[in-house]
Amino acid sequence: MYEASKQKAFFEQSKQFLSTPATKDQIEDLRDNLRFHEWKYYVENSPVLSDYEYDMLYKSLEKLEETYPALITEDSPTQRVAKDLTSEFNKVKHLTPMLSLGNSYNKEDLVDFEKSIVKLTGEETMTFAVEPKFDGGSIALVYENDQLVRGATRGDGTQGEEMTANAKSIKSIPLKAAFSKYGIHRVELRGEAVIRKDVFDRVNQERAKNQQVLFANPRNAATGGLRMKDANETAKRGIDVFIFQLSFAEDANGNDILHQFEKHSTCIAMLKDLGFKVPKSEFGVYSTIDEVSQHCIKWENQREKYPYEIDGMVIKVDDFKLQELAGYTQHHPRWAIAYKFKAKQATSILEKVEYQVGKTGSITPVAKITPVALAGVTVSSISLHNEEFIQSKDIRLGDTVLVERAGDVIPYIVKSLDELRSGKEIPIDFPKQCPSCNYDLIKPEDEAKWRCPNNYCEAQIIQKMIFHVSKDAMNIDGFGKSYVERFYDLAWLRDISDIYNLDYQAIAELEGFGEKSATKLQEAVLKAKQNPIHRLLNSLSIYHLGRKASKVLAERIEHVLDLADWTEENYTDIHDVGPILAREVSHFFQQEENIALIKKMEEYGVNMKQTEEDRPVEVAEDAPFKGKTILFTGSLQQMTRKEAQQKATLAGAKNISAVSSKLDFLVVGEKAGSKLKKAEALGTVSILTEEDFLAMIE
Ligand code: IVH
Repeated sequence: MYEASKQKAFFEQSKQFLSTPATKDQIEDLRDNLRFHEWKYYVENSPVLSDYEYDMLYKSLEKLEETYPALITEDSPTQRVAKDLTSEFNKVKHLTPMLSLGNSYNKEDLVDFEKSIVKLTGEETMTFAVEPKFDGGSIALVYENDQLVRGATRGDGTQGEEMTANAKSIKSIPLKAAFSKYGIHRVELRGEAVIRKDVFDRVNQERAKNQQVLFANPRNAATGGLRMKDANETAKRGIDVFIFQLSFAEDANGNDILHQFEKHSTCIAMLKDLGFKVPKSEFGVYSTIDEVSQHCIKWENQREKYPYEIDGMVIKVDDFKLQELAGYTQHHPRWAIAYKFKAKQATSILEKVEYQVGKTGSITPVAKITPVALAGVTVSSISLHNEEFIQSKDIRLGDTVLVERAGDVIPYIVKSLDELRSGKEIPIDFPKQCPSCNYDLIKPEDEAKWRCPNNYCEAQIIQKMIFHVSKDAMNIDGFGKSYVERFYDLAWLRDISDIYNLDYQAIAELEGFGEKSATKLQEAVLKAKQNPIHRLLNSLSIYHLGRKASKVLAERIEHVLDLADWTEENYTDIHDVGPILAREVSHFFQQEENIALIKKMEEYGVNMKQTEEDRPVEVAEDAPFKGKTILFTGSLQQMTRKEAQQKATLAGAKNISAVSSKLDFLVVGEKAGSKLKKAEALGTVSILTEEDFLAMIE
């Protein structure tokens, strides 16, 4: 849409507009400039102005238009903001019907699809366009004389609901597009309104803050957003529109000229050139079903990393002539098919609930369901979190439950389908005693979970040990849950100190072990004995004490047992420590058995003294990067990325992860890519080579 040289000119021009107010004649230039920045931000996803600068430009246009109202145009960026509330959505007829798609689920289905096209068209060879099936709400846009004149939702496919004001508020939809350059007078585009997953999370966080009901998923938020009575509300949802089809094109004489464009892929390229948001690397054109299928599988595997929700891919015969020959059913085109990804939702039966005891005694109810396939894995166990979760969803034993798994996210129960109840379902009775040791459970008022208060609870002790050896805690390589359970059953482990006093000769003789693995384990345990004390503090499973607070404490003590002399005030005096954590840690160090445990560990050789790694990083007043932010990009030749970051920290810098106006220094290694480009475009970032960086910290 904009060549690189043109982009630079626009960027330079914005700086001018920002410093000198535009004259009357420059209003249209200013609009074009704002359109460019909207495109960079909403379509290309790579802004070159800060939000503030953009706002300033926008405000200067608003001001000029206020002074010269006669010069306001329909396609001015200021006209995205609706002035009146539209109270109803008029019915409008789509220029061509908005059809649905047939479905396919595997390669065989795709092979059949190709066969049917060969049969329908008589053509043996053809190419296919493959693109994401966006999971949002469909939308149809009409442009006339290069201006957006109508936006509509799908409705029943023949008639939709007009929502032009809402469409105008969506910034990835250009208000003006140079279709005339391609000889087009009137055109209809089809697309999908979607919300980026991270934007969706932000919208929901905002709603939670305002105590509004949360949206279940980005699709609901997007489709709902299209139908807001106040277009300014639509604008707040952060909706993006991807265009996936050019469905109608007419020249100034009313002749249908769609077929002049010959191919779907040509149309997508044209729409991209005109500034629309279209699929890019996600879009492929292939001549064999093998390649088509590979493209689909690749995107199914990486769907979670894609910033938008997609529920499949769409395969379209690329050539318009062949499309015409293949034709349509009442319901869908015969020249296109959806390749559906494996379901992320399924139903199953809740068979029973088990109660797990955590390392600090908290009780987690776990639903055992009839195993069900969900997005490629079999699910049989799902956390129910706490009693309140069960009650608020009124989940009962024997219920049919709706289960969802969104990618890497752990599966969860969306709801019980109470319409399917037979009446035999049994309400869940949350236990009052610990399932492991039978102690009466307690529930502090401000907490969601019931807890077992017994320090000698067997389940708790085992969980404490499993955590103790884990990566997050003492990181004892190779020592996992199964070893802990096995050694516990053999009575070799009774508390975490025993981990450091194992008989490796006996271990070597265990079935499945042998000298070699016993020695390996011994070495890993030996290594862990030298860990810094912040790791040790975290590994003790003290209620509320996590990794970060452990570091804060480790910075302030010479020996772990110094904490035995601390009062609650000593803790709360620390900026990052609150009263609950203070109470729990000080309580832990008041108990004799805990002191004895630590002494025993120390006897076994576990380090209890502050190490170099525990000590706070001292940044000198004149440290070269004091108070500055830094980012490393590309492949570094003289140090690893991690070493570079550590050096930067020691030199007073804060490592950040993205290029923005907040970034002070970008250090570029070999083959630096988009980050470097973005930093150059910003013009406010100091760009350093690896050598420059090293010289500065010398
Ligand atoms: S093509 C005549 N392409 O899926 C062509 N549809 O089940 C019909 N959708 O309502 C649609 N992404 O809103 C097409 N890349 C894509 C799509 C897509 C999402 C939606 C569309 C339609 C539904 C069809």
